[in-house]
Amino acid sequence: MNRPKRVAITGAAGQIGYQLCFRIASGDLLGPNQPVILQLIEIAPALDALKGVVMELEDAAFPLLAGVEATADLETGFKDADYAILVGAKPRGPGMERADLLSENGKIFGPQGRALNAVASRDVKVLVVGNPANTNALIAQANAPDLPKENFTAMTRLDHNRALAQLAARTGIHHTSIRQMTIWGNHSSTQYPDLHHTLVAGKPAMEAEGVDASWYESDFIPTVQQRGAAIIKARGASSAASAASAAIDHIRDWALGTDGDDWVSMAVPSDGSYGIEPGVIYSFPCTCENGQWSIVQGLEINEFSRARMDATDQELREERAAVESLL
Ligand code: NAD
Ligand code: LMR
Repeated sequence: MNRPKRVAITGAAGQIGYQLCFRIASGDLLGPNQPVILQLIEIAPALDALKGVVMELEDAAFPLLAGVEATADLETGFKDADYAILVGAKPRGPGMERADLLSENGKIFGPQGRALNAVASRDVKVLVVGNPANTNALIAQANAPDLPKENFTAMTRLDHNRALAQLAARTGIHHTSIRQMTIWGNHSSTQYPDLHHTLVAGKPAMEAEGVDASWYESDFIPTVQQRGAAIIKARGASSAASAASAAIDHIRDWALGTDGDDWVSMAVPSDGSYGIEPGVIYSFPCTCENGQWSIVQGLEINEFSRARMDATDQELREERAAVESLL
């Protein structure tokens, strides 16, 4: 058996955190030969609830679970962490945009960045889930100057998986036969789900049965963009199990590698690829190998895509400007 990896989770007693703890302890994150130590972080008022989560983790007797720590102290919680999943933040309610959370949630990520900088593994891989995820990741990164900038990422994998599900339903082809899906930009309603490079059973998605320009523009794109709001409306609470599942997909693929010629969508610090503003945390098509992600290069971008990729870039620049004092 390998040395246990330390996985820190903030907001561990919340909806998403509760799902994440059990999936990770059962081996879904890093595979069946990798023991894990969970370092669970909550705010003080939620520590009783977190104690209950720890009791349940003990009662599940997971073979791969090598330890559980629960704390409200960031430096204790992030100590030597190999992975940090930053979930703890307020979810939006009906009628809100995710950016409406920026002033309240943004303040959480500066102190977390500083604590990671002080005590986490020098190669800690960070995934921000708490909304608005992209700009919160930027805040954490800016407050962790000694850690590699590329280790700060935000989650658009849920959007990626939602896009796979919508296309699978439309074409009648199972999502495992769909490859090269792309979400560009912000995890917000300006995100751009792009089918121009996607393959359905090996053939271009834009030519697949049931897919035409009208469905793509008027149905597929808005459905994926608005899926989070639709879940909130239906469930009365924001997505939780699917969000936890996507977070696991994101870290697993980053750590263990993507599959052959397929890619995944990850919000990562822009290096200027595809003309996107350098520095903003923007979702790109990425492949992963040896624990490193790289942006897929050389995709042809048509006028339709260009306008949408720039609009979501513009929103991220505006969010960055709004939190300048926290960077
Ligand atoms: P929740 O309210 O059920 O849980 C959040 C938990 O975080 C609570 O237990 C709370 O006590 C804790 N918390 C708050 N501030 C904290 C802090 N400073 N440090 C540590 N813990 C803290 O919410 P949820 O449904 O689990 O959602 C969490 C966040 O994830 C929300 O911002 C939500 O919008 C976001 N989200 C993002 C995606 C995505 O795709 N990126 C998907 C779903 C939800
Ligand atoms: C989601 O996409 O489900 C989450 O970001 C929650 C939300 O506010 O939509």
